[in-house]
Amino acid sequence: MDDNRDQNTIFVLFGATGDLAWRKIVPALFRLFCNTKLPQRFLLLCVGRQSMTERALSERFKESAAARAHGTFSNDDWQRFSEQIRYLSADVSIQKTYADLAQFIHQQEQQWTQTSQLLFYFSMPSTFFSPIVEGLGGAKLNRNDAVVVVEKPIGHDLQSFRDIDNTLKRFFTEEQIFRIDHFLGKETVQNIFAMRFGNPIFEPIWNRRYVDHVAITVAETLGVERRASYYEHAGALRDMLQNHLLQLLCLIAIEPPVVYDASDIRNRKMDVMSAIRPFNKETLDQRAIRGQYDKGRIGGAEVPSYRDDLDVAPASTTETFAAVKLFIDNWRWQDVAFYLRTGKRMAASVSEISVRFRDVPHCAFPVCFGLNSQPVRLIIQIQPQEGIVLKFMAKEPGSLMTLKPVDMRFSYKESFNIATPDAYETLLWDALRGDATLFMRADQVEAAWQLFAPVLTAWSETPPNDFPNYAAGSWGPESSDELIHSDKRQWLIPD
Ligand code: BG6
Repeated sequence: MDDNRDQNTIFVLFGATGDLAWRKIVPALFRLFCNTKLPQRFLLLCVGRQSMTERALSERFKESAAARAHGTFSNDDWQRFSEQIRYLSADVSIQKTYADLAQFIHQQEQQWTQTSQLLFYFSMPSTFFSPIVEGLGGAKLNRNDAVVVVEKPIGHDLQSFRDIDNTLKRFFTEEQIFRIDHFLGKETVQNIFAMRFGNPIFEPIWNRRYVDHVAITVAETLGVERRASYYEHAGALRDMLQNHLLQLLCLIAIEPPVVYDASDIRNRKMDVMSAIRPFNKETLDQRAIRGQYDKGRIGGAEVPSYRDDLDVAPASTTETFAAVKLFIDNWRWQDVAFYLRTGKRMAASVSEISVRFRDVPHCAFPVCFGLNSQPVRLIIQIQPQEGIVLKFMAKEPGSLMTLKPVDMRFSYKESFNIATPDAYETLLWDALRGDATLFMRADQVEAAWQLFAPVLTAWSETPPNDFPNYAAGSWGPESSDELIHSDKRQWLIPD
């Protein structure tokens, strides 16, 4: 569907008083509204446990929307948008909530004298997903014109994912289920496709003959903020690696699609997932490492250790850093290592993918000082820099034939000169139009849980005895360096 403006829509937001709704979802809906991308008849029905007035909730949302409006916030626009906000204080574990919801929807549709599209957004921990789905089903709200959007991580492990997925599929078809991974909505992530398949020059070298290894870093200076009660049960592997970083890996490793559509893209991604070499007990420690931050300094300020954060157990064994080494056993990538690392309270907030090409095989210059001192790398900068950098060697002017590393840069900001839309804006618009290309299919999520199941099991069976093992403001534990140094390689420290 290209245009959804005439499609009356009721957007039901479960978990409306939570952090994600406040920080991401409502500001994104507001920007869609300002860009006339929301349906003309639209209602945002917020569901939360707290008792509060619509006005109070709207004021809370306003503050966040204003802070994220890229300097273009207008009170008049907000006023018009907020007239569409309703609030239902309810407990999602009781059936009455869904009867109330059904009644609300029925009344609204009578007023519109038309049925509407229903979008149910689950912005809650996944332990609530099954009760909500069953509640919706019990109230017959799983209509053909309804879709559900669920946040990652879906489940806590393979079995709990399967349980949730089975419940979802008892009431909704796969086409009605949108599993969100907001990294896929980032412009810079979508651009990996454009770069690889919109240009003829990358594909011939995008394979084991030319690529030495790939390193993916998603580092944050932030701690767990107000989300410790969630994070304590999740940890870095479930929160980031199993979804966001794996999705990035899929986009780097994927085969060219025949058509850019949901089915083809997701089939190609599954090809990657099913070719990832499984972890085994014997080599697990050499391929998966974990860490937890101690106190340290970030941006000149002292920050406490993870264990000293509010709502964190004093002897918590939750990992705030995880790194793995993966291999993709297929013709294109056999034996090319993919190193993935992510952590909280790191030295810098930076997400980037470094594709490191092989060294030149032979030195042909009379004076070849400097050759391979900086190998050729293509750096895909996801954030905060948004662009692509090619790092290669050039002749230093005036010298005989001394080579020096240089950079060639593409920057979104300079080339397009517009603020890139937030990932949630892109994804919510897609979900409203029924386009699932940038969402995860069930088999992919299942494969991701399956891949990491041995790591999760090993980590829960053997609690770490060295936590905390990295200082806040550093690049993670020593074991992360060893993971890559043992292959005579190193993480690239971002610019
Ligand atoms: C979320 C994680 O999915 O992604 C958070 O739950 C993390 O822990 C966030 O901070 C990072 O996303 P972004 O878009 O801010 O880089």
